[in-house]
Amino acid sequence: MNNFIYQNPVKIVFGKDQINSLGSLLPKNGKIMVTYGGGSIKQNGIYDSIVKALDGFSYIEFGGIEPNPKYETLMKAVQIGKQENVDFLLAIGGGSVLDGTKFIAAALPIDNDPWDILLGKTTVNTAIPIGTVLTLPATGSEMNGGAVISRISTKEKYAFISPLVMPQFSILDPQVCSSLPHKQIANGIVDTYVHVVEQYITYPVNAMVQDYFAESILKTLIEVAPKVLSENPAYDDFANFMWSATIALNGIIGSGVPQDWATHDIGHELTALHGIDHARTLAIVLPGLLSVMRSTKREKLEQYAYRIWGISAGTSDERIDEAIAKTIAFFESTGIKTRLNDYGVNGTTISVIASRFKSRGTILGENQDINYETVEKILNIRL
Ligand code: NZQ
Ligand code: ZN
Repeated sequence: MNNFIYQNPVKIVFGKDQINSLGSLLPKNGKIMVTYGGGSIKQNGIYDSIVKALDGFSYIEFGGIEPNPKYETLMKAVQIGKQENVDFLLAIGGGSVLDGTKFIAAALPIDNDPWDILLGKTTVNTAIPIGTVLTLPATGSEMNGGAVISRISTKEKYAFISPLVMPQFSILDPQVCSSLPHKQIANGIVDTYVHVVEQYITYPVNAMVQDYFAESILKTLIEVAPKVLSENPAYDDFANFMWSATIALNGIIGSGVPQDWATHDIGHELTALHGIDHARTLAIVLPGLLSVMRSTKREKLEQYAYRIWGISAGTSDERIDEAIAKTIAFFESTGIKTRLNDYGVNGTTISVIASRFKSRGTILGENQDINYETVEKILNIRL
């Protein structure tokens, strides 16, 4: 196992009706900015519960943060936050609202262009504290320091990570899932699955706890997916789904092990260029990546094939091919298509992505051996 330092200060308040405890978690003084998305919280009653809990607090609202949160929109929030001397941010939504709010938190205290944070030219040295009420299990943003921001003008999408934007608390009430469209539940399942795979199918470092933990999340997702996508999911199905998503990307299964993240980085380009939902880009890319990178991932791929899918017969390559086929079938069983052609994307986009990576000098993967040519190979087999 590799050396690691693990610290996660996020207070998780999990369970039925935990939104009622919001008032006791917020700072009593100062000015709160409540951030949310396109209005789903006003239809499903979450907004009303929040307003009730905020009785007596001084707050302003900033709504309209879109899926794949846009720098252009967030900068409006930054401007208002500065004018209003906001000193706490309360994000109500899915990964996009949470990520957007993390960006606002890091941008508020600085005077230079906060886009530099995404470009790695400015370090986050301080940030406004954040609390969250999660409405969509998927990204793990509620318990990590990551945020992914898009810029419309340049069709770019980049991530930044800072412990300073980890929420002080996150309220996770699985009941919020009942208003989610099937499409978003499927996205959440697949995003979570790929988060685990990016930290698990690399090369072995004899990290038994991390491996068994990762496998338990994958198995939970496979078991719970048809239930949460059924007509009448039970509370516990949503609870298991929600906790899987949080645990998958709160740093615990990734501590002390190599991590890949190439699927995410390639997927972000597909979202930036074509607006394809984040999880769907992962469902397209991952099977190609596992196939092309099989020589360096072989041991973990064989372990994945056996422990997750029970595959023990055949040559190593046959077992790996079968495990990839099962993975694709699982993604498709949630209603998510897995080929570029399914989204009207063709070879032109592959060339654009490859040349973007070439000009940026991007090298990806746990072994830092995925260059633009390998990215081209990965995407070509997903046409
Ligand atoms: O905007 P509203 O009206 O809230 O509607 C949203 C949105 O349209 C809707 N929704 C959310 N909760 C709902 C609901 N609809 C009904 N009932 C509810 N309870 O769902 C739609 C999608 O929301 P969004 O927040 O965009 O989805 P998700 O949570 O999948 O977040 C995706 C973003 O997170 C980033 C992605 O790149 C993408 O930008 N990621 C963030 C990560 C992180 N911070 O660690 C890691 C991930 O890998 C990912 O990259
Ligand atoms: Zn993701």
